[in-house]
Amino acid sequence: MSEPALVALRGATFGYEDGPAVLSGLDFDIREGRALALLGRNGSGKTTLMRLLSGGLKPDEGRLTVDGEPVTYDRKGLTRLRTTVQLVVQDPDDQLFAASVEQDVSFGPLNLGLDHAQVRVRVAEALSALDITALADRPTHLLSYGQRKRTAIAGAVAMRPRVLILDEPTAGLDPDGQERLLTTLDGLRAGGTTVVMATHDVDLALAWADDAALLTPSGVRTGPAATVLARTDLLRAAGLRLPWGAAAAQLLRAQGLLTETQPGPRTPAELAALAAGRPAASGA
Ligand SMILES: Nc1ncnc2c1ncn2[C@@H]1O[C@H](COP(=O)(O)OP(=O)(O)OP(=O)(O)O)[C@@H](O)[C@H]1O
Ligand SMILES: [Mg+2]
Repeated sequence: MSEPALVALRGATFGYEDGPAVLSGLDFDIREGRALALLGRNGSGKTTLMRLLSGGLKPDEGRLTVDGEPVTYDRKGLTRLRTTVQLVVQDPDDQLFAASVEQDVSFGPLNLGLDHAQVRVRVAEALSALDITALADRPTHLLSYGQRKRTAIAGAVAMRPRVLILDEPTAGLDPDGQERLLTTLDGLRAGGTTVVMATHDVDLALAWADDAALLTPSGVRTGPAATVLARTDLLRAAGLRLPWGAAAAQLLRAQGLLTETQPGPRTPAELAALAAGRPAASGA
């Protein structure tokens, strides 16, 4: 691997107190600018891995590095890590606690010791990125689930992290809410944020991610999403099914409509283009 990873775990072993090891000897890289989907069956350790990558948990063995520098778990080291990596947990109710949306999103930047003017700029920017500016004064307990999710993500975005890690961000969102969230994430990526998400949705992972990491009982397997998510053996080991795009690619190859090296469709629009014998429109 040529470029050093932005965030890396090396030889990480972790188990909760009074439990067996959840992860052992794990090497894991977050590469700058690459959208990464993390997949695996329930209980495989996705949330645990995300908490290790964001410093909420400390590996029993092994180490976490940022730009090649080992992370220290003292106050200073963790503050530095928090300005680089932000985790958004799956349930927004575990993250939101302030009375209003604006107060909640302000909390992180205020805690960094920024002055009020700087905090206001960051909060406005984060609310706008998540398209919830109109909700700024709303009490968080009166928000819908999707609005609470957006507020929780805005709180992380207001920290201007280089890496945003999202634990099952689309779970519980309606189809339109999922689409809107992916558009929001595209906007953040275009602004230079590296995005990592855990998901059980193989179709979404194939359509959205550059790389996919599968947590299997024999370790983590990472590679280009289209390659990893076409491996039925790995998918089975991770408790997942083949994405429809990969299934369609198999069918198109059998019909001679797609060569071995041509990428398969990731969206219905790309499938329609391939089936019509046209080159797929990119980014559709
Ligand atoms: N706080 C905890 N204390 C003890 N064991 C825990 C704790 N949190 C998780 N575990 C255990 O660690 C293992 C990994 O859990 P984790 O939540 O990381 O899995 P996951 O891949 O995120 O699962 P899911 O898809 O259900 O969210 C599971 O066996 C779980 O029971
Ligand atoms: Mg989880």
